[in-house]
Amino acid sequence: MSLPSLLRAASSIALCLAGALALAAPTPAWPPELLDDREALLDHLIDNMTVDEKVGQLRLISIGADMPHERLQEEIAAGRVGGTFNSVTRHDNRPLQQAAVERSRLGIPIYFAYDVVHGHRTIFPIGPGLASTWNPQAITATGEVMAREAAADGLDLSFAPVVDITRDPRWGRTSEGFGEDPHLVSEIARAMVHSMQGGDPAQPDRIMASVKHFALYGAVEGGRDYNVVDMSPLRMYQDFLPPYRAAVDAGAGAVMVALNTINGVPASANRWLLRDLLRDEWGFEGVTISDHGAITELLRHGVAADDAQAAQLALAAGLDMSMADTLYGQELPGLLERGEIEAAWLDQAARNVLRTKYDLGLFHDPYRRIGKAADDPVEVHAESRLHRAEAREVARQSLVLLENRNHTLPLSPEAKVALVGPLADSQVDMLGSWSAAGRREQAVTLWRGMRGLAQAPGWVRLARGANITDDPAIIEYLNFLNWDTPEVVQDERDAQAMIDEAVALANEADVIVAAVGEARGMSHESSSRTSLDIPASQQRLLEALAATGKPLVLVLLNGRPLDLGWAQAHAAAILEAWYPGTEGGHAIAEVLYGEVNPSGKLPLSFPRSVGHIPAHYNHARLGRPFTEGKPGNYTSQYFDQPNGPRYAFGYGLSYTDFELGGLRLSRSDLGPGEMLEATVTISNTGDRAGATVVQWYLRDEAASVVRPVKELKHFERVELAPGESREVRMTIDDDVLAFYNAELDRVVEAGAFELQVGLDSQEVLSAGFIRR
Ligand code: NOJ
Repeated sequence: MSLPSLLRAASSIALCLAGALALAAPTPAWPPELLDDREALLDHLIDNMTVDEKVGQLRLISIGADMPHERLQEEIAAGRVGGTFNSVTRHDNRPLQQAAVERSRLGIPIYFAYDVVHGHRTIFPIGPGLASTWNPQAITATGEVMAREAAADGLDLSFAPVVDITRDPRWGRTSEGFGEDPHLVSEIARAMVHSMQGGDPAQPDRIMASVKHFALYGAVEGGRDYNVVDMSPLRMYQDFLPPYRAAVDAGAGAVMVALNTINGVPASANRWLLRDLLRDEWGFEGVTISDHGAITELLRHGVAADDAQAAQLALAAGLDMSMADTLYGQELPGLLERGEIEAAWLDQAARNVLRTKYDLGLFHDPYRRIGKAADDPVEVHAESRLHRAEAREVARQSLVLLENRNHTLPLSPEAKVALVGPLADSQVDMLGSWSAAGRREQAVTLWRGMRGLAQAPGWVRLARGANITDDPAIIEYLNFLNWDTPEVVQDERDAQAMIDEAVALANEADVIVAAVGEARGMSHESSSRTSLDIPASQQRLLEALAATGKPLVLVLLNGRPLDLGWAQAHAAAILEAWYPGTEGGHAIAEVLYGEVNPSGKLPLSFPRSVGHIPAHYNHARLGRPFTEGKPGNYTSQYFDQPNGPRYAFGYGLSYTDFELGGLRLSRSDLGPGEMLEATVTISNTGDRAGATVVQWYLRDEAASVVRPVKELKHFERVELAPGESREVRMTIDDDVLAFYNAELDRVVEAGAFELQVGLDSQEVLSAGFIRR
């Protein structure tokens, strides 16, 4: 008998047995002693499950979208659902879990997932804002609150962290990730996974992390969402894969598979990606989850000729769970019957889902996060359920001061301030993309934050000045996205009348604060832009304000690096605020009035224009590099714009001054297994307390493959009182020096290195050493 027919025979015997069991099976259908032995319990379940039940485990159902509620309960009771996503209260989740545990034949619990990406009820800054803190403790505080708030709503798993490296800010999902650098993003990925899962995702106040989007989603061509990804293996290993790997190594229980193709094969059907790399090379034991409808998309990618082939390809590749996709349920039983998939693939996928549930503690107590009805919150949106203090502290650290001419900032609380711009009082835009169960009504705008801090005889007065955009097609696009209330509400007044009103207010004021940038929907999934400009309506406002001659402070709310050419030339100060979350208005106001000294550093290089993309700092070394101050001919540059970024990776100002000095190495060379310690002194030479980030970069002088001009290897956020100095250190060993060679082996090669240390990626001190 051939293997497939043997497998077929075995599975039909299992089916009959399971059918017989159905009459007599106790609930739950496993001996209690197996609860302490995960793999034995999974063996037992797999042995006793029908094909339909196994396939059922692979279905992740979108609440409200995939089927009516009553049918969902029936599907769950029939054992045809593995988990759901998008229901966010204990009250809603409880009956679904009851249907699974009390009514399904085997009593296997389901799990509840949601996009808890940068906060749940309390919204923290978006990804680039979190990354701008360069502070793993701030990330940890965020991840812990996300987990506690989500678990308190009966959720088990979040589709986060988003660790897609991106170098193209046209991509709308730049707003979800943590920037361009493999080391920084990996550190954040690790801190996020640890804090969400707390070392053990079974704890009732923790949730499981699902790292996404595996893999390389941030490299979609042209920054256009869902576009193809074509990339050399070396670049993948060196630049784009490390953060996913860091999350997996940190114990992320789940991996969400990306929607893009990778070198011609969609990630959802990519055996190399999901089996060879993720399972065999990285040792991942958790569950892989498709992105929304991705299995059906295999037809549109043109790699599957029909529904059956799409399901076959995905399962064969190692895609365990299908999100909001009907094809697994519809096709897998027939494929098995016909011997077109191996029973072992189905068993393995179902087993991975069951293991996830075990690791979430759901076999021990399916209601561990749902709790008892009597304990449900009376009001799910209650203020008392928010973590405002934590969100405010993280938001403070996320703000990046890009310009501050003539010490325009901080403002005196007694200054007369004209606060203008369409984002000055827009609650929804404080939250940013994927703001989960966060409520706009609970968000603090800049208008509110500043009013709380201004002091007589000073004042702060508001004039909108402009709409986000006057382009009807863009407004329609933004309001078409599937949100309950309009995202962008137009002020119907004449555009010039609004500008005139703002200018009149500015003329009465000492200083203008303009809150401008993008509506949150402009930096979102599928919201790619061809332009990085501040929209024209707002630009016109800014130019009119600048013409008043009053100092112009820009507060930018946006999800991607913008083209800040005009702003750099005309604004007295620029504060990059990203979308700072529920407490954003307070945090920004505290920085503007100097109650908080800004300390954020950019996690992405800001290009000078769209044509300047990609502008990432860690690009590969070249045979004809452009060198500042030398003739540009026949070197790698654009002759019509300066070469470097407008604002560099790692850059950000403070209200105090910092100085780095005294870089020294403990030795000038090191051999295999040896260590070298570098020390530098950071001093606060100004007159205010403040924090900065000491950043260590490495440059490999010569190697068997072309290496980046420099790479971030270590960083440390340091808080210093005025006049205070501190020594900070970095240890260099083979782990720091290792890189992927042309065969993709991680190696250390002998030769010269340059260690650089700075408060951004460009202005650095350096010292050389040799690896023998
Ligand atoms: C599609 C998005 O790509 C993904 O990030 C998200 O988790 C799912 N939808 C579920 O909402």
